[in-house]
Amino acid sequence: MAIRGILRPGEVCIRVMDKEKARRHYGEIMGLHEVLEEDDKLYFKCWDEWDHHSVVLRVTDRPGMDYLAFKVYSDAGLDDLEAKLKGRDYEVEHIEAGVYPKSGRRIQFTLPTGHTMQFYAEKEQLGNTMGAHNPGVIPDDGVVRGVETPGLDHILLGGQDIDACLELFTELFDFDFVEQLIDAESKMKLAVFLSCSNKPHDIAFVRQPEDNKFHHASFRLENAADVVKAADRLGKYRVPIDVGPNRHGVTRGATIYFFDPSGNRNEVFAEGYVHYPDIPTLTWDTDELGAATFSQDFTPRQSFLEVLT
Ligand SMILES: [Fe+2]
Repeated sequence: MAIRGILRPGEVCIRVMDKEKARRHYGEIMGLHEVLEEDDKLYFKCWDEWDHHSVVLRVTDRPGMDYLAFKVYSDAGLDDLEAKLKGRDYEVEHIEAGVYPKSGRRIQFTLPTGHTMQFYAEKEQLGNTMGAHNPGVIPDDGVVRGVETPGLDHILLGGQDIDACLELFTELFDFDFVEQLIDAESKMKLAVFLSCSNKPHDIAFVRQPEDNKFHHASFRLENAADVVKAADRLGKYRVPIDVGPNRHGVTRGATIYFFDPSGNRNEVFAEGYVHYPDIPTLTWDTDELGAATFSQDFTPRQSFLEVLT
């Protein structure tokens, strides 16, 4: 199936508490490119993203996520999504073009887990310095830097009613239910992994006692060797590590988890499998919680399961 509906998580707005520390973390260390500054906000893009920005940092007094916005393929897709949401009694707010910088109109609503989510179809494009005609294979010198992530990959959110989120994303938004972690005895879903693309997940939800919690934003890398190289860089700059280089059982992605200076978790992620819609949902249970989360040492981490912003 060609992707002609919801394309990807195109923008995440993360709350940070110190503008300069956040600028250094996401800019110099992670290697994102700062494209715009407002009084209380910084805007960044990853090098191989065409759109103007994918990460917005809002300076305030607490960490966490303000909103997550998915890009959709066409403006007509926004009307279609609005009709579907209203058909299930979701309140949908209209945000005019230009209210968010470089962005067309958006629709906004609240997920069953309390998170603010948006859809938009238009955003000014800056490109990746290679152009669209005879683009070559590597960008201009200096464009790839820091942790060298080419793009935002996926977002993991925490809240209570992840079953309702699963239904919303699969039935209304046409996402695939790719993987799940369930309690071995009660069979209750503890985490669900959803894709609108060939990626093993574009968004995931983990069951948490408190709604509207942010687990992490994940940035793509090319391969596991790049994940090890990222670990060297994160260590050099004394970035607090949650879980060092490892591989998830769920999604099979090579991973590192670490924290930005405000305590928000970031991930670098590479090599998850290619997902197709005809592949059955993969299920892990808590008897294999260690291998499901971190397959190389099959050891669950308490901080990974419990620390959210
Ligand atoms: Fe992740």
